[in-house]
Amino acid sequence: MLAKEIRQKYLDFFQSKQHAIIKSASLIPENDPTVLFTTAGMHPLVPYLMGEKHPEGKRLADAQKCIRTGDIEEVGDATHLTFFEMLGNWSLGDYFKKEALEWSYEFLTDEKWLGIPPEKIYVTVFEGDQDAPLDEESIQIWKDVMATKGIQAELFDETISDNANARIFALPKEENWWGPAGETGPCGPDSEMFYYIGEGIPDFNQERPGMNDANFVEIWNDVFMQYDKQKDGTFKKLAAQCVDTGMGLERVTAILQDKKNVYETELFVPIIDKIRELAYKETENIRSIRIIADHIKAATFMIADGARPSNTDQGYVLRRIIRRAIRHAKKLEIKVEFTALIADIVIDIFGHHYAELVEHKAEIEAALNQEEQQFAKTLNKGTKIFEKVAAESKGEIDGKDVFHLYDTYGFPPELTAELADEKGLKVDLDGFEKHFKEHQEKSRQGAEQKFKGGLQDHSEKTTAYHTATHLLQAALRKVLGNHVMQKGSNITADRLRFDFNHPEKLTPEQKEEITNLVNKQIEAGLAVSVDEMTVEEAEKMDVVGAFKDRYGEKVKVYTIGDPVNPFSREICGGPHVENTAELGTFKIKKEQSSSAGVRRIKAVLV
Ligand code: SER
Repeated sequence: MLAKEIRQKYLDFFQSKQHAIIKSASLIPENDPTVLFTTAGMHPLVPYLMGEKHPEGKRLADAQKCIRTGDIEEVGDATHLTFFEMLGNWSLGDYFKKEALEWSYEFLTDEKWLGIPPEKIYVTVFEGDQDAPLDEESIQIWKDVMATKGIQAELFDETISDNANARIFALPKEENWWGPAGETGPCGPDSEMFYYIGEGIPDFNQERPGMNDANFVEIWNDVFMQYDKQKDGTFKKLAAQCVDTGMGLERVTAILQDKKNVYETELFVPIIDKIRELAYKETENIRSIRIIADHIKAATFMIADGARPSNTDQGYVLRRIIRRAIRHAKKLEIKVEFTALIADIVIDIFGHHYAELVEHKAEIEAALNQEEQQFAKTLNKGTKIFEKVAAESKGEIDGKDVFHLYDTYGFPPELTAELADEKGLKVDLDGFEKHFKEHQEKSRQGAEQKFKGGLQDHSEKTTAYHTATHLLQAALRKVLGNHVMQKGSNITADRLRFDFNHPEKLTPEQKEEITNLVNKQIEAGLAVSVDEMTVEEAEKMDVVGAFKDRYGEKVKVYTIGDPVNPFSREICGGPHVENTAELGTFKIKKEQSSSAGVRRIKAVLV
């Protein structure tokens, strides 16, 4: 079964269970200060898991593009990827454990769907602790549902010797509890499904699901969102119980095709073939090939969603993965500019489902080529610095210098060692390691800070900033012109940040006019109202954000001011304040360039 068939079957299956199929959200979260990228299907749905009404209803399913860079060092093994697709179904206060688990099992094992032999499937559940009890309900549901396929399923019991029928394993929070993605927010016990890729019946003294044993591959996770984790670490019951599930498309594809790793599926083979074609055969190194395939694929999707290489935020991650791919290409002795060539193959494979790749093909190629050329220049500069360092060295190049070359000029230590060797110089690689580790610790902490989040903070302050962002966008369009469109938005409890397209710096007069216009709407105490409609209907009403590629979708439209002649009308998930009078006084703190043709405003409410 091809990946595209699995993706389609998944969506068809949940459609047959009355789920609305929604489009993948962008990889770059909007209005979410806590993460750089969408890391799970539940991410863009957090407001709805917390109780906001979703315009498509209470049952949703999709294939969501995700980026996770936490495991970047693992990329190149059988299963880790930075970019992956997550198939997910959601209940927003609708069905709960019974339907979720029964449908998961039906989709996995039924001949009409994936047709996985039932004896291959093992599951885990939450064992219980001070915050929530053992998930006995899921255990019973699993026993019942597996019995329908002739499987007698028992809970594994460490204290008995006969565990021949064990299928269900209870594990602690570290394994069977999902979320919150940030410090606070929706979370709950989960039940994970594993495919046993080993031969025959597993020996549970040797291997068990959920314990990182290689023969048990996790394929699906059903999370039962019941709690809202509070800042003080306690768990409050959510207003409505929700279900969040996630199935990794690449892994399931590999398993169904009996492939040992994700790179052997059609999601990667054409990319790998292209890299092989460009590489020098004698230096073939499968790990480098896989790293290039994964990283350039991730970069292609990131650029399509609006990221550009830079030294901050998403742009920084993008730059690092492109440059990491280029370094591995050097190992393979690829002699041509290759990143855009690989991106073209990625677009060929995924363009049919992700139209944004085709739409932004020229920009993707241009951004990759530019970064590749710029990195080549950086490396040239590094070579000159190396010459200087070498000339000043007394027989050995200091670890600190090796690290400086690496960190500032992207000069790999192997390259420094090679060049040094040609000059008969030694290199203090231990010293390099020491500096590298120290630095890695610092950047790891930084990255953890950046990646630890995931949830919008639904405080009153962020809601107020969200409404202020709508006022700002409307004011920008009135003062600068209707070409102004949102290019990014990021809100914390302390400020809003808004990116928009505009060719030049704003004049002091324009800034003043925009500020006054926003404050006038606040002073007027305008009502904020919400309606649901299709994208076509929204377009007829001249709503900001009504894009043709979302035709057919039902959306929420927020209106600020008189419904007939409003100040602002935008497609948006919310939440918002009820009246602009709640906002305070709006002040622009900074107006600067964000990237070519895109301006950035930081503003506060005081
Ligand atoms: N949020 C869960 C996960 O990421 C299930 O979708 O695994």
